[in-house]
Amino acid sequence: MSVRQIVLDEFIIQKEKDFPYATGELSALLRDIGVAAKIVNREVNRAGLGDILGQHGSDNVQGEAQQKLDVLANNTFINSLKTSGMCAGIASEEDEDIICIDEDGHKSHYVVTMDPLDGSSNIDVNVSIGTIFSIYRRLSTKCPCTHEDFLQPGRQQVAAGYVIYGSSTMLVYTTGKGVNGFTLDPTIGEFYLSHPDIKIPAKGSIYSINQGSYTKFPKGVQAYLDYCLGIDGTNPKPYSLRYIGSMVADLHRNLIKGGIFIYPSTDDAPKGKLRLLYECNPMAFIVEQAGGKATDGKRNILDLKPEKLHERTPIFIGNTEMVEKAEALLAQYDQATV
Ligand code: AHG
Ligand code: MN
Ligand code: MN
Repeated sequence: MSVRQIVLDEFIIQKEKDFPYATGELSALLRDIGVAAKIVNREVNRAGLGDILGQHGSDNVQGEAQQKLDVLANNTFINSLKTSGMCAGIASEEDEDIICIDEDGHKSHYVVTMDPLDGSSNIDVNVSIGTIFSIYRRLSTKCPCTHEDFLQPGRQQVAAGYVIYGSSTMLVYTTGKGVNGFTLDPTIGEFYLSHPDIKIPAKGSIYSINQGSYTKFPKGVQAYLDYCLGIDGTNPKPYSLRYIGSMVADLHRNLIKGGIFIYPSTDDAPKGKLRLLYECNPMAFIVEQAGGKATDGKRNILDLKPEKLHERTPIFIGNTEMVEKAEALLAQYDQATV
């Protein structure tokens, strides 16, 4: 009789030994996230049947119309993180300020940042969406938690991950010792280890960017796209463009197949669109752990010191070779304008 695959909760507990001072808090937090992911997955899978498609009728702090599933996913993750008392506070895309959970004086050591539902524009059209999360050890020692607990460079992340609600539902996470992916078996409600020790392929041939905004991109980004397309004559094998419009799904594909995902600055948005704390940092941690790289064009994403909860940054993330080629072309154009 063959041995069955390990499930997420077993794996999390086995990995506790990697942390010499582990108290089980981080494991409990990751377990809470796994439970919330299953609940959101249930709602996503029946999204066309109930009254959960469409707009919620409210805007989030960035002025974006909230979808019903944005609100549902946010509430689900918050409630789940509150359950075990292992989370001191949450910073969410959907909430203007931090949510402090530790009011009763319980001494939890961790805070969580999250994009509860990534790819909102794809909800109503049955295209893959996701959840992104990141866990930091808090700096403050007293309750409630403070903004400083959240405004730490991505390098300080203790764990980060995403859930992709796709052709199957997967949870992919890292605690800084490689990246592992788990696929949900919906018939028994367990995440099984299906993608151990994920490494991004050394060579990639996919680029992912909203190319419709080409004319608004900086000259260096345009030059890199011309390279990808093979129009500048230096790329013997032009790349394939694949862009879904859900960062989680676009990056998951590129992580498995090799590729680069870019959300650059534009004329209208000099800091790009994606948020440092709960989109770029967690994805950068995962991709770096898988052997890839993430920069804002010059600086490693994980070294940026956040100043605001909802701050944005341009991002070039994926296969190291491709990211470095993009950086080289950006640098050439920077030089040209000095
Ligand atoms: P969110 O749904 O959490 O607001 O994130 C959407 C983001 C990201 O997932 C995606 O990469 C990007 O928006 C797509 O933006 P464009 O439509 O400008 O390409
Ligand atoms: Mn998002
Ligand atoms: Mn979102």
